[in-house]
Order: sequence, then structure tokens, then C-alpha cells
Amino acid sequence: MTIGIIGLGAMGLGIAQVFAQAGQTVRATDANPETRATAPARLADALQSRVAKGAMTEAEKTAILQRLVILERVEDIPPTHLVIEAVVERLEVKRQVFSLLEQGLAPDAVLATNTSSLSVAAIAEGLHRPERLVGLHFFNPAPVMRLVELIPHAGTAPDALTIARHLTEAAGKTVIPCADRPGFIVNRCARPFYGEALAMLEEGRSPGEIDAAMMAAGYRLGPFALIDLIGADINLAATEGLSAAMDGHPRYHVFGALKRQVASGHIGRKSLKGFIFPDSPPPPPDDAEAIALRIEATLVNEAAWLLSEGGSTESGIDTALKLGLNFPRGPFECLARHGRATILQTIAKLAENAPPHLQTRYTPAPGLAP
Ligand code: NAI
Repeated sequence: MTIGIIGLGAMGLGIAQVFAQAGQTVRATDANPETRATAPARLADALQSRVAKGAMTEAEKTAILQRLVILERVEDIPPTHLVIEAVVERLEVKRQVFSLLEQGLAPDAVLATNTSSLSVAAIAEGLHRPERLVGLHFFNPAPVMRLVELIPHAGTAPDALTIARHLTEAAGKTVIPCADRPGFIVNRCARPFYGEALAMLEEGRSPGEIDAAMMAAGYRLGPFALIDLIGADINLAATEGLSAAMDGHPRYHVFGALKRQVASGHIGRKSLKGFIFPDSPPPPPDDAEAIALRIEATLVNEAAWLLSEGGSTESGIDTALKLGLNFPRGPFECLARHGRATILQTIAKLAENAPPHLQTRYTPAPGLAP
């Protein structure tokens, strides 16, 4: 099989590595000549670190590098069975790439977009064969992260979905189907992990207490350490993007504490200071369990809202959050652990104590309410 990749930045090169490591020929391009020219050396560097760890031999590295074919133009990419675009996050650029590609591809070839925030249906609009387009959302770094979200739009042909799924699974990934909705599964269902922690911060709790409570509940990193790792600026952009896509619903409220943190410049590891970085969290506070329950209850509710909208399953959502965010358990596993009554009581109490503009943040999802 031959896989096409358009865009050889952070994601495109990582996805190229995934398929080349799985034995596929990868035909790839980028609009920037320098990015094209440096791609083989950048891939060689990435593979070299695996050789150094003993995870790959020199001979395997050489074979993988030989499977990467760099081409000058998007039109040179065919013939391929599946083409994945990972160009800049701009609708008109993605549409233009696909329209250039379509002309040379076999009618049964599959087109995939790695978009993280655009609608797959919007990208399909204007294509000659919109039924061949799917979303294949890889996570960063693509060679390391096992999860890939698979997103059909209303007109995607079932066989296009099957081909995209099989090729991605054959490259060692866990593929979880989800609906063409803002944030797909992970970027949407993660929101309360940060949001509820920020709400508590605004109520006077410290980032250290909240992180320590989540770590005591089994999370590898607390919400603030995770924001520091990602960058508060990136987290703010993701939160604002989702809030806008959801018409400013209070479940996606952009907390002032996050905006102020970005304005202060202390955006995390990359600025050497964040909400908690470079410190470690203190011992958990006495009410650590209540803090963790509050965050998990809102994670359950968001996941239940997503489930009620169709296109995903409880186990798919659980797997996506465990693989995409390293959570020790998914939201529906949290539901089983705490029990429906406890979750409902927890969010009812949050609604009771919330300021008026945040009250509907805690409205229980249809499938959750008795
Ligand atoms: P990047 O900026 O590292 O790479 C984008 C590449 O696309 C650049 O090398 C650029 O020269 C190239 N490009 C731009 N227009 C082009 C065109 N018309 N034809 C060919 N190449 C073109 O961006 P990154 O981070 O790799 O993101 C790419 C896509 O993946 C975006 O849609 C992004 O939303 C998505 N994504 C990003 C993740 C991340 O953590 N960075 C995670 C998951 C998805």
C-alpha cells in the first residue's frame, strides 16, 4: 500500500514515520522547499533515537528512510491508496490541497484530514468526491501516541471509513470512531479537567492542592501540571476555540484565571514558570477526594452529553481519554466507580452554588438524569 502525506511539519512528518515504520511506502510533500529538503534528515534523527534505545536496528532505520519519497508538488502525490493532509489549520488551504489531489487520484482512494478543530463536512464541501473524505485525527507526537480519532461526515462512504480504519490500525494505532462535532472526543471531553480546576482556583484553592488531589486519585499529572506541559497559551486557544464553536455554552467557559495566567507570561515549561511548574505539588489536602470527585463528576457529565449526541460509544470515549490524555480511567468508568446517584448529587450541588452565568454548566446530560 502507498500512503500520501501533505504537510511535513510536526504532525505530517510524525504520521509519515508511523506508516513508513509499518512497512508502507510514503509519498509526501510540503509547500515549503526547505521543509521538503530537511524532511529525510528530520526523520533520520527521530529514528536514530529509537536505534540508540535499542528499539530499532540500523538496517531497519535505513529501510524506513528508503520508504519515504519526497515530491515537489501536491499533484505529484498520486498514485496512493490513502492521502492524509497535515497542512496549516485553515479551511481554504485544506480545501485547495484536496481539490489539487482529487484530479490525479483513483476514484476509490481515500482522502483524510488531520484537522483538530475544523469540521470535516466543511472541508468536504466543494470536492468532486466528498464521499471519499474522512477525518483521521492523530495526536502529538504521532509515532508515540496510540490513539487516532476517525471522523466520518454525513456523506462519507462506508468503504472509505473501513479503508482508513484498517490502514491506520495496521500501522499499530487504536482507532476510535467519533462524530464530526467540535473537539471530536478528546479535545472536548478534556475541557472539565481544566475548567473545573480553574473554577476551584477562582474560588480560592491553590493549583498545588488541586493537582495533589488528582494525583492521589491516580492521575499521572494534575490539571495545572498538564496545562504547564501543554502551555497555558495553547490551552487557552483550545478552550476559546471550543467555546466559540459551542456558542459560548457555560460548559466551555473560558475562566479569567487562565486568561490572566497567559497575560502574565507564565505559560508553563516553555517559559520556565507556570501555574505550578517548576514546583512539585504538596501533599494532598484533607478534602482531596471531594476535589477529585468534583472534577470527575463534570468529566462524566461532558462525556454523557457527547454520547447523547450520537456517533460515539461509552467504551470508545473511555479508551480515547485513557490513550489521549493518559487518564487512569475513562468517564464512564468513573461513573461506574462513584455511582450515578453520587455523580448527580455532585453536579446538582455545583449548580446550586454556581454564579448565575455558570449555572447551566452543571445541567445533567439526558442519559445521566433519572
Ligand atoms: P506545522 O505548522 O508544524 O506544519 C504544517 C506544514 O504544512 C508546514 O510545514 C507548511 O509548510 C505546510 N503547508 C502549509 N500549506 C501547505 C500547502 N498548501 N501545501 C502543502 N504544505 C503546506 O503544523 P502541525 O502542528 O503539524 O499541524 C498540522 C495539522 O495537524 C493542523 O491541521 C493541526 O490542527 C493538526 N494537528 C496538530 C496537532 C499538534 O499538536 N500540533 C495535533 C493534532 C492535529
